[in-house]
Amino acid sequence: MSSNKDFVREMRVQVAIVGGGPSGLLLAQKLSRAGIECQILERRSRRYVLSRIRAGVLERGTVDQLRQVGVGGRMDFQGLEHHGCLLSDGDQIFSLNFHKLIGKSVMVYGQTEVTRDLYDALDRSGVVIRHNVEEVSLHDIDTDAPRVTWQENGQFHEMVCDYIAGCDGFYGPSRATIPDSVKHEFERSYPFGWLGILSKTPPVEDELIYSRSPRGFALASMRNPSLSRYYIQVPADEKADQWSDEQFWSELRRRLPEKVSQKIVTGPSIEKSVAPLRSFVCEPMSYGRLFLCGDAAHIVPPTGAKGLNLAASDVHYLFEALREYYDDQSSSGLQNYSDTALRRVWKSMRFSWSLTHLMHIFPNHTRFDARIQIAEFRYLRQSTAAQRAFAENYTGLPYH
Ligand code: APR
Ligand code: PHB
Repeated sequence: MSSNKDFVREMRVQVAIVGGGPSGLLLAQKLSRAGIECQILERRSRRYVLSRIRAGVLERGTVDQLRQVGVGGRMDFQGLEHHGCLLSDGDQIFSLNFHKLIGKSVMVYGQTEVTRDLYDALDRSGVVIRHNVEEVSLHDIDTDAPRVTWQENGQFHEMVCDYIAGCDGFYGPSRATIPDSVKHEFERSYPFGWLGILSKTPPVEDELIYSRSPRGFALASMRNPSLSRYYIQVPADEKADQWSDEQFWSELRRRLPEKVSQKIVTGPSIEKSVAPLRSFVCEPMSYGRLFLCGDAAHIVPPTGAKGLNLAASDVHYLFEALREYYDDQSSSGLQNYSDTALRRVWKSMRFSWSLTHLMHIFPNHTRFDARIQIAEFRYLRQSTAAQRAFAENYTGLPYH
């Protein structure tokens, strides 16, 4: 393909990174600090990437990685350390103190802010991030000289590399490059979505509240002491513009215990959108010289906020494997990458699936299913063993 067209042949890099979301940016920052050359190809503008609003709960492993690569400063200053969370059935509320249960905590700091901090750090490191690239394609991934081609300002470009990191999210081209004959995809979709709003109002509580009300799930979250993020479960095909702010606040109040509802400070929404809920895993997470990270390989429902954290653990495993290759000339880490990453992916997949099942109202549930769900909720409320298991998963399972 490259022989006939007028291609601009870029310098060969060690690692070509497709996608400049959190996975691609964190990997690039780690590689550049280790002296491994990389370049990022991103379809969107930086402004667009920074306008995406996503969950903001960071596990300890994610926090540690950000600190280790020199991007923890603003997070440590502005992030909110949470020692627990609140769970409700819409009437009663109880608290899970992760710190008391297992001595761990999480950091509440928006994914948008993590992304901004990584962009700033990469600018300082001089890593090339090509934005607004089109028609990105991966070639020869099962050879020693894989290539990426793309269009930029109407011109075709080609870059040969040692390895390609597919960090291009669920809809990117990387996963599609793995032949169907070797790929297995596992999927569960849920018959509802989350309608979320962001509002410049103080959060109703210091901790997050996950509420399994008989009217449907609700979540009270936050970005900082004057910015709240709230969600309610809605049917999967619901449109955000069908909901006025007043309707949203009124439904949210009905799904939280009265003593909490009374305290909610309402205000105009500055963002309102519906997110579908899905669980998805692609196996294997690598093929030849292509390695998938983050949403390119798996999707979790937002219950439990595992998306960004799983992306971070993938990046950890891939970075360690690449470092082993370049420092010790050993490719065993790369060979094991998919198995190693998938072991942790499936554990987080299980937790976010089970929390989704515990906290939502399922339209297809029988009366029996509903009773089981309530029994499970009561068990969690009463059993320290169940609470410890919850805390262990919520704050993040170990990397090894
Ligand atoms: N060419 C280049 N870049 C692409 C292409 C393409 N054809 N397709 C997608 N991309 C870019 C997207 O524009 C996006 O910026 O890849 C990036 C993927 O970023 P994310 O979707 O944020 O995925 P990831 O970096 O793995 O982050 C995982 O982010 O999506 C959330 O909930 C998810 O929190 C999780 C985390
Ligand atoms: C969020 O703040 O957006 C958030 C927090 C926790 C979740 C999901 C989303 O489980």
